[in-house]
Amino acid sequence: MRLGPILAAAALVTLAAACSKPQESASPPDTASAPAAPAAPELSDADKQAILASYPAPYNTADLANGKAKFALCQSCHTIAPGGANMTGPNLHGVFGKKSASNPDFKYSDALKNAGWVWDASHLDQWLEKPMTFLPGTKMSFAGLKDAKDRTDLIGYLMVETGHKAQ
Ligand code: HEC
Repeated sequence: MRLGPILAAAALVTLAAACSKPQESASPPDTASAPAAPAAPELSDADKQAILASYPAPYNTADLANGKAKFALCQSCHTIAPGGANMTGPNLHGVFGKKSASNPDFKYSDALKNAGWVWDASHLDQWLEKPMTFLPGTKMSFAGLKDAKDRTDLIGYLMVETGHKAQ
């Protein structure tokens, strides 16, 4: 029996094990390495479109593909999956209908702690247009999303992906 291939295979297994070790918040965690969340059923694109259609206008016709593309601007600081990690910014799952600055594990600015509003589409829209003007003193250093349609698409995407249910 030749040992070469067996040793090589063993080395590969060891290597794979080393690579899959969870890393302590070194790089922004992707959703796969976020703490295990209660198993949410995978939604198909058709399911997502149906959820979207249940929202009030203009969000019911948001372009989810564009919303997802715009969310790339947020992803370095925010996760949206249930139980996702807080990074530079807090996890955003369930943000709609929640009081601002209410994630107990995140250190917010005094400005956002004192803001005292409930996150709805209208607050999100103003926030995302220019956070530092809408709320002076916030530590969300994001320049803003100028285009109103981009904000609508992003908000529609966020509603679907953060589990918002239409009233
Ligand atoms: C550079 C990092 C960064 C980027 C990029 C960023 N955020 Fe934030 N975000 C933060 C921080 C930090 C806070 C907390 C602000 C505070 O405490 O004043 C925050 C707060 C928020 C909140 C309020 C959450 C709460 O619990 O009240 C929302 C909503 C939000 N961000 C959405 C977004 C969206 C959507 C985008 C993309 C368009 C985005 N953020 C981009 C860092 C970021």
